[in-house]
Parts: sequence; structure tokens; C-alpha cells
Amino acid sequence: MNITVIGTGYVGLVSGVCYAEIGNQVICVDKDPRKIEMLNAGEIPIYEPGLKELAAVNRTAGKLSFTGDLASAVRQSDVIIIAVGTPPLPNGEANLAFIDQVALEIAEAMNGHKIIAVKSTVPVGTNERLAQLIRSRTNHDFDSISLPEFLREGSAIEDTLHPDRIVIGAECQSAADTMVQLHKPLTEQIVVTDIRSAEMIKYASNAFLATKISFINEIANICEKVGADVTKVAEGMGHDKRIGPSFLKAGIGYGGSCFPKDTSALIQIAGHVDYEFKLLRSVVEVNQDQRFNVIRKLETIFHGELKGKTVAVWGLAFKPNTDDVRDSPALEIIQHLVDQGVKVKAYDPIAMDSFQALFGKDGVEWCSSALETAQDADALCLLTEWDEFASVDLLRLQNVLKQPILIDGRNVFKEENLLGTDFIYYSVGRPNLNQGVKQPMPVL
Ligand code: UGA
Repeated sequence: MNITVIGTGYVGLVSGVCYAEIGNQVICVDKDPRKIEMLNAGEIPIYEPGLKELAAVNRTAGKLSFTGDLASAVRQSDVIIIAVGTPPLPNGEANLAFIDQVALEIAEAMNGHKIIAVKSTVPVGTNERLAQLIRSRTNHDFDSISLPEFLREGSAIEDTLHPDRIVIGAECQSAADTMVQLHKPLTEQIVVTDIRSAEMIKYASNAFLATKISFINEIANICEKVGADVTKVAEGMGHDKRIGPSFLKAGIGYGGSCFPKDTSALIQIAGHVDYEFKLLRSVVEVNQDQRFNVIRKLETIFHGELKGKTVAVWGLAFKPNTDDVRDSPALEIIQHLVDQGVKVKAYDPIAMDSFQALFGKDGVEWCSSALETAQDADALCLLTEWDEFASVDLLRLQNVLKQPILIDGRNVFKEENLLGTDFIYYSVGRPNLNQGVKQPMPVL
């Protein structure tokens, strides 16, 4: 099929490359000329493992191209996929300005029947509104499709080429059939439904995953108080097929460009129809608080006196294998430490530049390796579970730290890793591993 994908962010770019990979002719469009220039020079504006190589193969095969010319791309394509950003407005609602603009531009460029599919995450009812907008600007016929995306950053290609399911929201059977044909090479699990339900599936899925994370984080907090190990609790729960093992990793809470934005947006969507989504409000609240556990642990260790201490931070990205720092817990944790008069040293294998672009360069000592960051620090906080941190020699690490205090916000290290070291080690929901300051467990 001839496909245009509009927007070359994570979703648009990965989708475009993967549609080409499965044999389609794909044009990726972006209004940012710098991005198009980079892409045409074989560079990729985001860090995503494997993407550069896959894009290069498909460009060389003549199946993939990049342009800023939306109108020309639309005219050459049968299927238009919109994948532009819907960032949150200050009140939590999705900002639909970019998608509206794109819809108008598509309408003006149309030269015949098109399938117009929306991959951007949009509130229920948006596809219908966009269809009206397009209809008001063109006499050409088209079919609207809601095509929610479920890829994760860091494993985006694998998720796209081997998805758990594809969801297609359509009003017209023949357009639905075309989209099923397009996605059949990827999976047999294709759910075809109405447009509003498809829009809702996206929000409900992200909200449910966020709920699992906040749930296990609260269980972890209780584990710390009652002397249970959350990793074992999650393992024991996860074997139950009704629960499943994924998204039960306790830590410092979720971040990124999706869960925080989509949970807030769903609370707003519910609010607009006079429904208070109490459960999801709590999920967000628990998540917001969870990152401060790192600070609370530091305060316990230093008896409330953080001022003047040197704290090393490992990991700035909201999760490993990405340079994305949007809503990363590291932003708030570091800001809080700096505000408390702590000297912060920080390092991330990939996300240093993107973090500095958002946080600013001042007030933090930026380091170029894990051990350099830890050198002479009073404590080390691990915030992102990059492989590089898990494979550090703990005895060397212990020797470069001023005090061997390690707060592992992602439960990266196991008991056997710590054997033979003198670390005062704090993790999340594993009180038996918390060495050094032993607290007596309550009699229950
Ligand atoms: C998430 C969803 O997983 C994707 O299905 C969806 O397509 C995407 O949002 C989106 O809406 O675009 P993503 O934000 O890339 O993907 O990353 P996840 O792997 O889901 O992780 C999100 C956050 O949850 C990270 O901060 C991660 O550290 C945290 N997390 C995840 C946990 O704290 N515990 C877990 O068990 C799993």
C-alpha cells in the first residue's frame, strides 16, 4: 500500500519504518525541516535501538522516504496515518491543536478517496470531530479510522513488528478490511470495533498499566514495614494468569510521555461526562509520591540533614534504552535535592543532553561515567535501571564513594551481588536487604 505517516516522533517514525519493512511504500512527513534534513542524511532524531539501521535498509530499498511536503505526500497515498503529538495542556487535557492543523492540511491536499487513520492518542470523540473538520474543507470522500498505538520506547521496533494486538476502530467495513490487510503480516490478534471504543481502549490500557505500577509500589511500601520482599510477592502474584507478571516491578514510579499524560487526560475525559475516576486519581497521587521515597530514605540515613552532602545520581531517563526524560522522576528528585542544598553529581549513558535541555545545566555536576559520578559522594541513588549500572564492580564502587550508601530505586541489585561488600543498601520493598541501619520488624 502507499502510506503517508504524518509526524516523525517515536510513534510516527517507528510505525513508518515498520510499515515499509513489511512491504509498503511509505512517506514520512514532518513540518520540522531540521528533522527531515537529519532523516534524509541517514540520522535519527531520537534514540531508539535498531531504528537507524532499519530505516537505512528500507530507504536504500526505495520503500521509505522523508519530506516536509505534506500535500504532495497525501496526494501519492491511499492511507494517511496521523501520528503527531498530543501533549498535555496545563489542566491535563490533551492539546489537539497540532492534530487539528494536520487534518485541515490533509483536507486541502486531497485528490481522491483516502483512509485517514489516527495513531495519536486522542480523547474519545476526536476522530468524529476531525472527520467533520475534514469534511468541511473537501468534497473528496474519505474513511476515518482510529488506530491506537501500543509500542513502548526502548523496544519500539519489536513491539511494532510483533504486537500483542492491533486495534482498529472503524465505521466503514471496507476501510476496516483494508486496515486488517495492512496489519495482518504483524499479528492475527486484530480487534475491529467502533471508533469510540478504539479511542477508549488506548486510554484504558495505559491507565490499567499505570494502576498495576502504583499498586505494586504501594505493596512495596507496605512490604518495607512488615518485612516482606516485594519482588517475591510480585513473582507469586504474577504466576496467576489472571494477574500476569508484567508491570509489577516496584520502583520510583512511572514517568515518560505517555502514562502521566494519558492518566491525567482520562481523568479529564471522565470529568467531562460528570464521572469522577477516583481509582485513577489515586494511581496518579501514589505515583507522584513514590519518587520521594528516595529523598525520604536519604533523610533517614542523614538524620534529616541533607544540606552540604554530595549525592550521586545514576540514571536520568524515565526508563532504560531511551533518551526520553519527559516526566522522568529524576527531574523532580534532582530538583528537590538541589533545593535542599545538596551537591548533586549526575550521569546517564544516553540521556544527558536531553535532560540538560529540560532541566538546565546549572546546579548539577555532570559526569561522564558511572564511577566518576560516585567518586567522593556521600550516597548514590540509582534511578534508571540501565545495564551499565547493573554490571558495575560493586567493590570498586564502594571504594570510590565517600560513604558506601546505595539507594537502589529500581531493585537492580540482588542479595548475592551485595555479599562481601559493606554497602548500606536500600532498595524498594525489600527490607531484608536493607543493610546497615537495621530496623526491627513490628510484631504482627
Ligand atoms: C507506555 C505503554 O507501555 C505502551 O504500551 C504505550 O504505547 C505507550 O506508553 C504510549 O502510550 O505511547 P512507555 O511509556 O514507552 O510505554 O514505557 P513503559 O515501558 O510502559 O514504561 C513506563 C514507565 O513505567 C517507566 O517509567 C517505567 O520505569 C515504569 N514501570 C514500568 C515501572 O515502574 N514498573 C513496571 O513494572 C513497568
